[in-house]
Amino acid sequence: MVADYCSVSSLSHSLIVPVSVKLRLCQPVEKTSVLAQRLEADGVSWITLHARTVSARRRRNGPADLSQVKALKETLRVPVISNGNVREWSDIQSNFDYTGADGVMVGETLLGNPCIFSGTVPDPVDISLEYLQHCRDYPGTATFPTIQTHIRHFIDFQCGRKPWYQKFRAALGSCCDVDDVEQMLRTKVERWRGRPFRSDNGLEAHEDVQAGGTDNVDLTLLG
Ligand SMILES: Cc1cc2nc3c(=O)[nH]c(=O)nc-3n(C[C@H](O)[C@H](O)[C@H](O)COP(=O)(O)O)c2cc1C
Repeated sequence: MVADYCSVSSLSHSLIVPVSVKLRLCQPVEKTSVLAQRLEADGVSWITLHARTVSARRRRNGPADLSQVKALKETLRVPVISNGNVREWSDIQSNFDYTGADGVMVGETLLGNPCIFSGTVPDPVDISLEYLQHCRDYPGTATFPTIQTHIRHFIDFQCGRKPWYQKFRAALGSCCDVDDVEQMLRTKVERWRGRPFRSDNGLEAHEDVQAGGTDNVDLTLLG
């Protein structure tokens, strides 16, 4: 939702739950703190800054400018959440140390490693199989194309540069349902990784599978 000052003010004064706002950098960048101070005066409970401009498409256009988060933290009284540049666990602590922010939000990296806030990197097949089980337990939560996209992210995160990665993409794209994806992971992907087939879920581990195959996850760690 795009909210103007007026609706932020009325929301924050009429709702019993806290209202927060997530911002990107303004252009020119100095306007960011002006906007944030107006929002603070309008009653927001905290402000998250993704320190890139709208025109910078995620990380492809370079790193977030965390100096702007630091500057905002020094300007505001409400808590400031820092967003951008976290790829691994150690980035979270260095983000806190540098910006002095009250929390760190992670976006894109969670697609590949949903365990980042526990400081671990799961085995990509293990986490994929766990995710597929959630899809079965909560049917209808994600469409099959979305499931394929999430599986792609889990494998891409650690194996995107492996020579077999394109074969995996093709195999995922040919899958028709969750069972297909599971069997493809247990057989083909494990073989490409040089590991034994996994058949411990009762599926037969053989290769005649019909193989073949996006997204918004954000989590915030409070300091
Ligand atoms: C798949 C995806 C979907 C996103 N959708 C939204 C969105 O709907 N609204 C929004 O404000 N930011 C969205 N973002 C941006 C993230 O919230 C976050 O600000 C951005 O990815 C920078 O953080 P990161 O460097 O940790 O990825 C999205 C990011 C990703 C990766």
